Amino acid sequence: MARNLIDIVDFSVEEINELIAVAEDIIENPVKYQDACAHKQLATLFFEPSTRTRLSFESAMLSLGGSVLGFSSASSSSTAKGETVGDTVRTVGCYADIIAMRHPKEGAPIAAAQVCDIPIINAGDGGHCHPTQTLTDLLTIHREKGRLDNFTVGFCGDLKFGRTVHSLVNALSRYEGINFVFISPVELKLPRYVKEEALKKKGISYVQTTDLESVMPDLDILYMTRVQRERFFNEEDYLRLKDSYILNPEKLVNAKPDLSILHPLPRVNEITVDVDKDPRAAYWRQVACGKYIRMALILKLLGIEV
Ligand code: NCD
Repeated sequence: MARNLIDIVDFSVEEINELIAVAEDIIENPVKYQDACAHKQLATLFFEPSTRTRLSFESAMLSLGGSVLGFSSASSSSTAKGETVGDTVRTVGCYADIIAMRHPKEGAPIAAAQVCDIPIINAGDGGHCHPTQTLTDLLTIHREKGRLDNFTVGFCGDLKFGRTVHSLVNALSRYEGINFVFISPVELKLPRYVKEEALKKKGISYVQTTDLESVMPDLDILYMTRVQRERFFNEEDYLRLKDSYILNPEKLVNAKPDLSILHPLPRVNEITVDVDKDPRAAYWRQVACGKYIRMALILKLLGIEV
């Protein structure tokens, strides 16, 4: 059976730490890895829009000396003719060595893994989870802070539909001494199932608020997110909630001098462009981390040691 990455809990904390160590080594010694995946093929099957995730996967495989194939929208695949995800994935399993897939339906990558025996990576399934963004976030935090424990993390924005939040909360709940602060409109609170699984079962307490500025001085990390328009049932709710939080330099006046601001991107309005020049803005460095951690992940799932 191939090893897959469907949910971040598929990897132990030790395995996550190892991936981070490999990614750091790739950053330091890229040449050492440039032929590691020679003659291997990565298929990227994206049934939903993407810029960073798909292109960082492709860039990761190319930088490992491998090659890439795939599609970037459901409309350009046989999905448009009515083919099931299972049949599409089974087909690609005959051509490629590893698959990264994104799909609007929660659980689609699990269904895919059942019909194909090459490794499947979940690159985002609906409003459920996004484990490779979490690996990116953890590498970023490790590089910014030098550790993955003992800090206060604020998650702000659409915590209901934001799959990157669900996976990152799950991952961080397995490290010591993390204080969780959830900042969202009442309608976009973190889903109960995420709180139960990641926090309540482990006896981890958390703070929930609608007010970003009141908690700003406590935060070591601020994880901003976009309101997920495509997951709303009606446009009016989206329009009412979309600008709930707009981070600008004034709102950062009372923040810690060593705060790290993360965002999985794309941003819409939730961080103004003038925050980009603040040294605490880590989200463009985070984008770069996405490629290196995916290189480490591809090596791991293909069982290649360098
Ligand atoms: C995120 C996603 O697709 O969930 N983007 C990403 O992969 N970097 C976040 C988002 O779309 O808001």
